Amino acid sequence: MNISIASVFPELYQSFLSTSLIKRAREKGIIDVHLDSFFSFVQPKERIDAPTFGPGPGMLIKPKVVEKAVQAAHKRFGPSYNIFFSPQGEQLDQPMLKELAGVLQKKRHIMLLPARYEGMDARVEQKYADKIISIGDYVLMGGDVPAMVLLEGLLRYIPGVVGKEGSVEQDSFTGPFVDYPAYTEPIEWQGMQVPPIVRSGNHKAIEDWRKEQAVTTSIKHHFTWIQNHTQSHEDKKLVARHLPSHYVILCHSNVLIGEDRQLGTTSVTSIDIHDIARSCKTYGIDKYWIVTPLVDQQKIVKRFLRFWDSDIGSNYNAQRKKAIAQVDLAATVEQVLEQIEQKEGKKPLLVATSARQEDHAKMITFFDQDQVWKHDRPVLLVFGTGKGLCETFLERCDYLLTPIEGFSEFNHLSVRSAAAIALDRWLGIQNQNI
Ligand SMILES: C[S@@+](CC[C@H](N)C(=O)[O-])C[C@H]1O[C@@H](n2cnc3c(N)ncnc32)[C@H](O)[C@@H]1O
Repeated sequence: MNISIASVFPELYQSFLSTSLIKRAREKGIIDVHLDSFFSFVQPKERIDAPTFGPGPGMLIKPKVVEKAVQAAHKRFGPSYNIFFSPQGEQLDQPMLKELAGVLQKKRHIMLLPARYEGMDARVEQKYADKIISIGDYVLMGGDVPAMVLLEGLLRYIPGVVGKEGSVEQDSFTGPFVDYPAYTEPIEWQGMQVPPIVRSGNHKAIEDWRKEQAVTTSIKHHFTWIQNHTQSHEDKKLVARHLPSHYVILCHSNVLIGEDRQLGTTSVTSIDIHDIARSCKTYGIDKYWIVTPLVDQQKIVKRFLRFWDSDIGSNYNAQRKKAIAQVDLAATVEQVLEQIEQKEGKKPLLVATSARQEDHAKMITFFDQDQVWKHDRPVLLVFGTGKGLCETFLERCDYLLTPIEGFSEFNHLSVRSAAAIALDRWLGIQNQNI
């Protein structure tokens, strides 16, 4: 397999390519790497770069130089799959590495074209780039480190480059979970022991322990990855078993009402009880409470729940009955907190939602599950009715989720829509990689 690299600074690659596994892969003839300097495609003293058109500073590598580099590579190894590097490109991740390893095995020649200065003329990428890769949302001085990052990841997939090929497929980001923690000698170091199970010799128990560790670490630190890469029923169940317990309340008190946003109490609506219950069941919420201090409103909720608990309800729709069986009624939030604490042995964290852009120190985003879950406590998601939860209640909460918004000025969602979106963002499977 052939790899061509054309760079402003080919010397950067010298030790990289002549060290460790890449060196060995070259010695074994698994890969043949050819390095070119962009300067070798211009006359002595001729510049390889030129200023960008339009206002603003910055130089770009001249199209002619890149063209010559590509032609030289093709002459040497035949047609290539060309990879450019830019912060504006597609973000590199493990599935992309695997895909590109497949491309390399099939095409037998990839060419890497890292830029410097302000980058490449857009027409060059248009003409030659099969892929433009970014290694993250930050700007480096050049594409050489990104090119090396790509090679480090890609070559692991090429047979014969790393020792045990099986291990590549078990590493982090090859499935929904990251790798498990690993230990070596000594058994005790700085007062810390290797977990006895790892040394037990019981392979099944070790495998189970590793899986548990992988799942819990992934949930804590890479939940977005899990959300995007969980497909099997078994993995779904595994994640569900290890997620912190989540509860939901719909508050009809502690809310603002009317145009002048006074503190007040709202009426219950059967459609919010019903629809939010179904969302809760879908996203694995343990229980959903309707909180209202008003006795007549409580009667309505009880009647509604009785209907679904009765034979008429189950004959009407057994699936919905299952969802509504998780709904309960409480007069106050305190009652809910007590019930959760009794069941879990720990107080829940209150995570409130608001449609208003509050200037709140406790504000978190829908990607901040790790901040909440690190406390190892159950989570109570709080939705308000009327004009939203009042300020005093928000002050009591441990966290406040950012408002749900689109690219418009309007974000007046019904609470059942907001609950569905919030639950989907917080706990939903997105499956980006299908
Ligand atoms: C200073 S950067 C140019 C940044 C460019 N003007 C922009 O803002 O998108 C110069 C070169 O470094 C490389 N580079 C910088 N950051 C990168 C990243 N995050 N991923 C991949 N390549 C990067 C690219 O080859 C880029 O053309």
